[in-house]
Amino acid sequence: MDVVRVLAFAGSLRKGSLHKGLIETSKSLAPEGMEILAFDLAPIPLYNMDLESDWPKPVLDFKAAIASADGVLIACPEHNYSFSGVLKNAIDWASRPITETPFRNKPVILQSTSTGMMGGSRAQYHLRQVLGYLECRQMQFPEVFIPNAKDKFDEKVRLIDERGTAQIRKQLEAFKQFLAPG
Ligand SMILES: Cc1cc2nc3c(=O)[nH]c(=O)nc-3n(C[C@H](O)[C@H](O)[C@H](O)COP(=O)(O)O)c2cc1C
Repeated sequence: MDVVRVLAFAGSLRKGSLHKGLIETSKSLAPEGMEILAFDLAPIPLYNMDLESDWPKPVLDFKAAIASADGVLIACPEHNYSFSGVLKNAIDWASRPITETPFRNKPVILQSTSTGMMGGSRAQYHLRQVLGYLECRQMQFPEVFIPNAKDKFDEKVRLIDERGTAQIRKQLEAFKQFLAPG
């Protein structure tokens, strides 16, 4: 595998999302031989089993993007001590039908940030439970939590905190090895 391709999506839809910022930051910190492609979850409708008779195109696109990626990076916001509904909705769609989910055996890493002091860790641990059920191949370490996010991002929503950028670099380097050892 010459270049590993990582699909990244953020569980927040807002324009100035710090999680979208983590993805943009990761793109610029990715090691040589790793390409990070962002997928926007905004067009994905609310899950409705009735729509499975005529799958919405954004859902088909999302599933195809996961299937064709070597790995997945999820930028996971913390909402009420768990991960966001936007993320749960998208994952629920991509889990269907469960026998054909592109998440099965898919290598996954997580990143979170929060203005609070836990950095989104509680959200990640909830998300890991769901990803375990879907039989994703989760890379546990290094973890990326950016606490006290205020002032750690510039006006373009790029992470400027040294400790945080070092964490991301280490994680992406380790993920490259995880995807293509040797
Ligand atoms: C509905 C809601 C619930 C939240 N709950 C938590 C929480 O439990 N813990 C926490 O640290 N931050 C919480 N926050 C703050 C978010 O983690 C923070 O706004 C983060 O920046 C959201 O990600 P975004 O910038 O990508 O939109 C909450 C925000 C919202 C909107």
